[in-house]
Amino acid sequence: MCQYSAVDGLPNNWHLIHLGKYAMGKVGLVMTEASGISPSARSTLRDTGIWNDEQVAAWKPIVNFVHEQGSKIGIQLWHAGQKGSTTAPWQGQDYVSPAEGGWQAVAPSEIAFGKLPTPRAVTKEDIKSIIEDYRNAALRAVKAGFDVIEIHGAHGYLIHSFFSPISNKRGDEYGGSFDNRIRFLLEVVEAIRSVIPEGMPLFLRTSSHDWIDGGWDTSENSALANVLLPLGVDLIDCSSGGIKSDITYPVAPGYQVRFSEDVKAASKMLTCAVGVITDPKFAQEIVESGKADAVMLGREFLRNPNWVLSAATTLGVELEWLNQYKQGKPKKVLPY
Ligand SMILES: Cc1cc2nc3c(=O)[nH]c(=O)nc-3n(C[C@H](O)[C@H](O)[C@H](O)COP(=O)(O)O)c2cc1C
Repeated sequence: MCQYSAVDGLPNNWHLIHLGKYAMGKVGLVMTEASGISPSARSTLRDTGIWNDEQVAAWKPIVNFVHEQGSKIGIQLWHAGQKGSTTAPWQGQDYVSPAEGGWQAVAPSEIAFGKLPTPRAVTKEDIKSIIEDYRNAALRAVKAGFDVIEIHGAHGYLIHSFFSPISNKRGDEYGGSFDNRIRFLLEVVEAIRSVIPEGMPLFLRTSSHDWIDGGWDTSENSALANVLLPLGVDLIDCSSGGIKSDITYPVAPGYQVRFSEDVKAASKMLTCAVGVITDPKFAQEIVESGKADAVMLGREFLRNPNWVLSAATTLGVELEWLNQYKQGKPKKVLPY
């Protein structure tokens, strides 16, 4: 989850403690916030990045710390596209102009997102250069020691805005048909796969549904899963929404689990369910019933970084606590 706490894309003590505490709480796979593949791929000036070697050096102690606690760590690579160059949510997510250190956002087509200025439509040259940025970012993620790369293809950011007919009105080979709208992602996947080890898991987060008639939907999302399997994408992390600013949808416990089920019904792709999954028994039911291969939690971890430890207690799972914390582990028999 974006922390808006980096300077020049460099993760710092905030990120070490923020991500480190999840590893201390025995999260199996800690995922970094969406991290820019270039300075202008960020949403804000305070996002983390992975476009230079200094950032690789800054990520390494965080990666090492997570590994030392026995957890794995992935990095989410992104280009914010139409939503680029804003202030943080607590500052109103207002546009930051080039005069204030920002930049003009880019998108497949010149369609403004909410109150933000109209983005510039990317040229084919821009597309080539952004794909190179993804390739280099992936290489740097490997150098930093990450175990997993997740491509951010959701929430109205650049890749998703190519997928969706709502935001992609291009007349060239990157717009129009399904094959054309997914072309940019396929080129990104190929570039990343060409530089990362064969066994390194590659995830993709998608917005499975735009929640708008005529938008990207679950049938296209499931068709995408089948295209991606032979290209070496290992898992689709099924989120939704974000392509327009004025959409409402029914957020409730597990409201996106059905998108994971749709992908699993249509393909052999592994999936992850996400979205208001807070109850350990519910999380277990999702995985045990085969609705998803794993679950991801977001905001619940902001409330309770030790969710995994308490979930293990609730589910009666024997989990080895860290030596330093062992004496805090609840005993089956009172008194403590
Ligand atoms: C503060 C905050 C930051 C987020 N940052 C990201 C992000 O960097 N990448 C991403 O894919 N989703 C991001 N999300 C979305 C969450 O990952 C998650 O999909 C969403 O909050 C729903 O899951 P939850 O109900 O478990 O929180 C963010 C959400 C919050 C609240």
